[in-house]
Amino acid sequence: MNVLILFNSRQGHTRAAAEAMLEAVRGQGHDATIKAVSQVRASDIEQADLLFIGTWVEGFILFGTKPAKAALWVPALPSLQGKPVAIFCTYLFHPRSSLKTMGAMLEGRGATIVGQQAFRRNRAVQGAAPFVQHVLRSFKQRVA
Ligand SMILES: Cc1cc2nc3c(=O)[nH]c(=O)nc-3n(C[C@H](O)[C@H](O)[C@H](O)COP(=O)(O)O)c2cc1C
Repeated sequence: MNVLILFNSRQGHTRAAAEAMLEAVRGQGHDATIKAVSQVRASDIEQADLLFIGTWVEGFILFGTKPAKAALWVPALPSLQGKPVAIFCTYLFHPRSSLKTMGAMLEGRGATIVGQQAFRRNRAVQGAAPFVQHVLRSFKQRVA
């Protein structure tokens, strides 16, 4: 299986979680590639059987907590039509409805959400491998 891991990271926590997911996916015997959301090309997505997409969260006093800058980077992604996508975020206090918002936005680009996890930022790296294992297990059951 070919897995593509995308991250939107400002200070490195989400990137570190994505890198730990890369190792976990490879450790399960799959091919995996990692890219920043700003670097991804349509061909990367076309070749992927499964994607992980992660972001940090950003809070606004009047508008709540959101997947950071998602209104910019989600519309700029190549089409996700028909692609299974597991989503994750890293946060400091509380992710609120960030994953729900992000999932809906990615569904609007054609994705099917197949897993989701919010990680407190200091636990994101250690949580990466169990998340990957859970997503891969349920994905295999879906396609079996
Ligand atoms: C401008 C700004 C706003 C943030 N707002 C929130 C917030 O509302 N809730 C929260 O739990 N964390 C908030 N955080 C913390 C980040 O989501 C958290 O540190 C995240 O892991 C950063 O990911 P990164 O290192 O990949 O950039 C905020 C961080 C910044 C810089």
